[in-house]
Amino acid sequence: MERLDKRIAATGRWSRKEAKALVKSGRVKVDGQRATDPEEKIPDDAALLVDGHLLSSERYTYLMLHKPQGVVSSTQDPREPTVLGLLPPHLRKLGLFPVGRLDKDAEGLLLLTNDGPLAHRLLAPGKHVDKCYYVEVAGELDETDQQALAEGIQLKDGTRCRPACLERLPAGNQALVTIQEGKYHQVKRMLAACGKPVNYLKRLTMGPLELDPSLPPGAWRPLTEKELAALEALRK
Ligand code: URA
Repeated sequence: MERLDKRIAATGRWSRKEAKALVKSGRVKVDGQRATDPEEKIPDDAALLVDGHLLSSERYTYLMLHKPQGVVSSTQDPREPTVLGLLPPHLRKLGLFPVGRLDKDAEGLLLLTNDGPLAHRLLAPGKHVDKCYYVEVAGELDETDQQALAEGIQLKDGTRCRPACLERLPAGNQALVTIQEGKYHQVKRMLAACGKPVNYLKRLTMGPLELDPSLPPGAWRPLTEKELAALEALRK
């Protein structure tokens, strides 16, 4: 059992204050009955309607964040600002964590959730979920680099990577790199192994999720029903 306002706010769509107001204005139904008390305790599997729309029955929260440069992809850090610090206080208490890390100087798509099994599915090495990055490097990318990544490049420490795709863009120092793994600093290390150090890195996609172009760096939003359904399909 959980408080109704807390459950509504945990979706990330409304603050706790807004959730209370929604209930008080009669816009929420719990198992078909109009709710009046935001503090009412409701069963975990209660069906919640807001303005007639079913809130996902999932009790987990899923947020898309456009990680800006200068924050670390952790939930706590003694010195550095974290991605969780970009969220309002009521969403910092839900046990959210980033699914896969982006370096402090990298930006782009970061999924925040408290759904451990899903995170495991997206990150498990054997599952081969594609992640696409936009990169800018020092120097000109050429066919040899493309080939080296396609064959599975060996990093300077001897680690062998799975085949990856490098799509060169018209500006010779820019490319889209798609990998299926998540080794530490992987994209930077792959391109460093080609002699083309990365100057700028931005994650654009992760599995079925694409960075929402309307989200500026530092902004976030809950996943849409369509995005949730696409993630759900990965569980199967
Ligand atoms: N590869 C990197 O080198 N850095 C990231 O942040 C993500 C992938």
